[in-house]
Amino acid sequence: MIFHEINAMTIAGPPACASQPLPTMNSQHPYPEIERQEARELIAFYLDAGADALIGEAPVDRMADEAISLPAGERPNSDLSAETRSAVPEAVRVGAGDQAGRIQHSPTPDRLRRSDPTPPGEGGLRAPAAPAAPETAVMAARDAARSAKTLDELRTLLVDFKGCALRATATQLVFADGNPQGRVMFVGEAPGHDEDIIGRPFVGRSGKLLDLMMAAIGLDRSCAYIANVVPWRPPGNRTPTPQETAICLPFIRRQIELADPDILVCLGGPATQTLLGIKDGITRSRGRWLAYDTGTREIRALATFHPAFLLRSPLQKRFAWRDFLALKKALAK
Ligand code: URA
Repeated sequence: MIFHEINAMTIAGPPACASQPLPTMNSQHPYPEIERQEARELIAFYLDAGADALIGEAPVDRMADEAISLPAGERPNSDLSAETRSAVPEAVRVGAGDQAGRIQHSPTPDRLRRSDPTPPGEGGLRAPAAPAAPETAVMAARDAARSAKTLDELRTLLVDFKGCALRATATQLVFADGNPQGRVMFVGEAPGHDEDIIGRPFVGRSGKLLDLMMAAIGLDRSCAYIANVVPWRPPGNRTPTPQETAICLPFIRRQIELADPDILVCLGGPATQTLLGIKDGITRSRGRWLAYDTGTREIRALATFHPAFLLRSPLQKRFAWRDFLALKKALAK
């Protein structure tokens, strides 16, 4: 959850500490220790409420009187409903369209209003505002990815790439782990909390399971390469929007091309659908061998369940085991 989402709750008036705006550094509080204590209590309230990412300094009262009016045609994502546009911070909206359905609010008229006409991010922390229209960002991503001659260059380009708003809420880029010379490359969806902190993919609970699954067929990170379709953690671990995915796609495609594995393993439905263009859900697509065109050559690709799904549905591990045995056999050739 993100702090902007919480601001609406502060108006409804839960704990007293939450109804006060966070004191700013230059406020002239007569008792700085009390001011600090209030700030600590407010932050504790946010954390208890599930907020785990700061996306702007100024609170936005989404239930106050002033209606947001954006001229038609100048709205980013004008396909979104008005209530979604007003309720979702700019950064999160960039890629919306939101078939993923993670950013949905009940359509109450009050949600169309806010007291602070200042766009999120103006004044204070740099809010993760969209630097460009999604199509422009996709084109910029294509150009940047194409220009990378090595994986190191690609990583540097991604560090500097401003076209995806997720970089502003993420702690850091999560580019890859393992050995790019490895014959097999695993690709997941997007980093989670632990990956965001550590800066490497699959280092949390699902990563530990992935390590065990690899070990079961004689693989480890010294002989396999690991990355994600989206290299920045979406706030609150929400699903990346289709536009965020589209912006990141040229980079992961180039990353696969440069790593040039013999076998690509897509972990979970989103990575499978994005990279292999399969519409079926993962339950139908897993275990099937498909061709993947890296841009330089055709390699073999296999879809299997995401380790995070297996943690929630351990009975499905038997199918993942079959997939990994098929992978072992293919690598033995
Ligand atoms: N899930 C993913 O898809 N990727 C990670 O790096 C971690 C969890």
